[in-house]
Amino acid sequence: MSQPTLTTSRLIVRPYQMEDKPELIDLIGDPLVSKPLLIVPYPYTEKDADEWINSRQVAFEAGESAQFVVTSKVSGVLLGGCGVIMIPKFNMAEIGYWVGRKFWGQGYTTEAARAVVDWAFDNFGLNRIYARYDVNNPASGRVMQKLGMQSEGILRQHVLKDGVYCDMAYYGLLRSEWLKKVVNTTL
Ligand SMILES: CC(C)(COP(=O)(O)OP(=O)(O)OC[C@H]1O[C@@H](n2cnc3c(N)ncnc32)[C@H](O)[C@@H]1OP(=O)(O)O)[C@@H](O)C(=O)NCCC(=O)NCCS
Repeated sequence: MSQPTLTTSRLIVRPYQMEDKPELIDLIGDPLVSKPLLIVPYPYTEKDADEWINSRQVAFEAGESAQFVVTSKVSGVLLGGCGVIMIPKFNMAEIGYWVGRKFWGQGYTTEAARAVVDWAFDNFGLNRIYARYDVNNPASGRVMQKLGMQSEGILRQHVLKDGVYCDMAYYGLLRSEWLKKVVNTTL
């Protein structure tokens, strides 16, 4: 299977292309965007962007992850990114997301993440998708709630980021819960 393009009412959620590099560096180079992201370096360099974009297809084909850029359907502008990291051994995936600061608060992340969750459950037979956020980043937790995820607890000082131990809140959505939601929205 090749990585698809997902369409929502306002968004095109598609695989990365090298042409995305300038907008990617501009948006994710903002420390308010990159600092909460556990796998994104700061400062974010052109080399970081090259490595990230160049490795997406291989990671997808290896079944490791599916990362998408989130763009505006109307303007084509790059708004952010969203993707899943696969954990095949446990038949589950972790979802992550970000949006450029000037686009915050417009529901873009929730809209894109919903499409990625639906696609991932639909295509990989996953039993569970989970997400986690630093408790000091409540907007991210709110997105998880809007995705219908359940709170699963807080792991104290669970990650070390920039020299600080962070308490991480975990949220999860089970396949059975997702199926109920899909049935309800199509009735
Ligand atoms: C977290 C992030 C992805 C949210 O993106 P977004 O496009 O603004 O998200 P949405 O608009 O879909 O939803 C945000 C929700 O959080 C709420 N919110 C915003 N700031 C908040 C705060 N300080 N406390 C609680 N809720 C907050 C919004 O009101 C909205 O909820 P609502 O629709 O019920 O009003 C964005 O802020 C971001 O990219 N941050 C940096 C990267 C990051 O943190 N990624 C997640 C790592 S776990």
